[in-house]
Amino acid sequence: MNCQVRKKVSWLLPIVALPRLVACSAPDLVAEGEALFTSTDLSPSEFNSYSCETCHDREPTDGLALNKPGAPLAGVTLRPTFYGGQYNDLLDAVNGCRAAYMAAPEPLLATEHDARALYAFLESLEPGRAEAQPFSVVSVPQELPRGDATRGQDSYVRTCLSCHGQIHTGAGRLSDRITLLPEDFVIEHADYTPRVRRIIVVEKVRHGGFYGYGGDMPPFSLEALDDEQLADIIEALDLPE
Ligand code: HEC
Ligand code: HEC
Repeated sequence: MNCQVRKKVSWLLPIVALPRLVACSAPDLVAEGEALFTSTDLSPSEFNSYSCETCHDREPTDGLALNKPGAPLAGVTLRPTFYGGQYNDLLDAVNGCRAAYMAAPEPLLATEHDARALYAFLESLEPGRAEAQPFSVVSVPQELPRGDATRGQDSYVRTCLSCHGQIHTGAGRLSDRITLLPEDFVIEHADYTPRVRRIIVVEKVRHGGFYGYGGDMPPFSLEALDDEQLADIIEALDLPE
């Protein structure tokens, strides 16, 4: 493990307090990596309001916890491929997220201290799930059958609220750049019929900022959110009929 060298004062020589060079220990590096994982520090961009933890849990959680778009990362250091097979290299996958969602202008290099700290933290989560995680993307968004608004409120709270805040007020929004639902969305798509607007929500949730949609919302795969849950959420959004 390559640690940054730190200066430590030797208390054995109280008068001349000579600096002594000691290597930091692995637990320090893990703690540093954890601090990076849970803060916005892995992107220097002022437009980034995400941490890795916004979209990834450490361990798989039961159905009552938040429903995040990225896979839990315990075991990621043991997986053969990443991001639904799009990457063979772990750091490339991390840099993919930093570029697509966190507006990071430069990739992290394997030799950088932050990359080592993040790796030490991810490694500390082993064993976790060592197999490649499924990520089934819906490439052509379809109209969904109408859902159930009451169930949808519960799913909205677990899936969308952490970024968008409360429906109609945006209370608790991660940043005021994030669309207020449904009002901002309806203004943006005023020329469409209610039916087409619902399909556009399906498209946005399935594609995030990809497939030409733009923006920095992550896509939700079928594993992260099934069609029935999405149909329920769309009812809960209280879009004008
Ligand atoms: C805005 C949401 C978002 C943010 C922020 C984000 N990711 Fe991701 N990440 C995703 C999605 C979506 C995927 C694709 C699904 C998957 O494979 O987990 C993904 C995939 C990954 C993968 C591949 C996992 C696998 O097993 O296939 C790794 C590793 C990863 N992200 C690490 C990170 C790290 C580290 C950070 C912080 C620097 C980060 N991500 C920030 C959404 C995000
Ligand atoms: C990780 C944060 C995050 C999560 C979780 C998230 N969104 Fe978003 N969403 C954004 C951001 C950021 C934008 C604005 C930028 C953009 O369009 O990508 C946005 C924009 C939108 C828009 C407006 C698109 C437009 O063209 O005006 C809709 C609709 C939307 N989100 C729906 C949802 C729904 C429904 C969920 C839950 C299933 C959800 N979002 C979960 C971050 C998030």
